[in-house]
Amino acid sequence: MTATTSPPAGNSFLDAIEVGRAAIDEMSSVRHLHSISAKRLAAGMLSEAEIAAFVDHIYSDGYSARMADVVAAGRLTTARLSGELVGSAGWVVANDSGAVARLIGVFVSPLYARHGIGRVLVAAAEAQARQAGFVTFTVRAPLGASAFFEHLGYDIASHGVWPLTRETALPVAFLRKPDPTPRVVQFRPDAN
Ligand SMILES: CC(C)(COP(=O)(O)OP(=O)(O)OC[C@H]1O[C@@H](n2cnc3c(N)ncnc32)[C@H](O)[C@@H]1OP(=O)(O)O)[C@@H](O)C(=O)NCCC(=O)NCCS
Repeated sequence: MTATTSPPAGNSFLDAIEVGRAAIDEMSSVRHLHSISAKRLAAGMLSEAEIAAFVDHIYSDGYSARMADVVAAGRLTTARLSGELVGSAGWVVANDSGAVARLIGVFVSPLYARHGIGRVLVAAAEAQARQAGFVTFTVRAPLGASAFFEHLGYDIASHGVWPLTRETALPVAFLRKPDPTPRVVQFRPDAN
């Protein structure tokens, strides 16, 4: 883990959460966190087959490689409680224009859901991406998680499916959060 920070003071549970970055030797803990979160938090929203395909996907080589790239780039923010990994949120470059960042790996342990950890992690990932020059954020959220992102200022752009296997595709929402910073427009009275 690299530099750690604390979330805003004032919430005794969140005060105990340490925000930092995942290290490359933590990939198995990261995958475990993502799988237990996907299993429990998607229950009731997704079918058994969809949850199983989601978890298989998390343990696939492709997912591991993609997440390892995010970790190696120092772009997977983590939340820890007494040293235990309880949440993560990462980002990647979403398009070639360099202006859009896509959130990935946003997962909170079901034991600690609805305590504000997800909000802290997304804010930290967005802040890191903003520092790197990204002003617009997108995310592909499985059914059930899109309302969370809407709470954080994201708008649903469209709905679709995420093909995980030949037989199973997850219903997802594509969400987008535009840059809230007002653009400064230079007024030049002599321009025509
Ligand atoms: C979605 C997820 C990250 C939310 O984490 P969390 O720590 O429970 O969220 P928070 O406690 O920070 O919630 C922030 C706000 O969103 C709301 N919220 C959280 N999850 C919600 C949900 N599933 N539906 C509706 N609102 C939700 C909270 O009530 C809170 O609102 P408030 O501030 O007005 O009270 C977590 O449930 C999860 O890991 N889900 C499964 C994984 C997943 O599908 N990830 C997305 C793929 S990138």
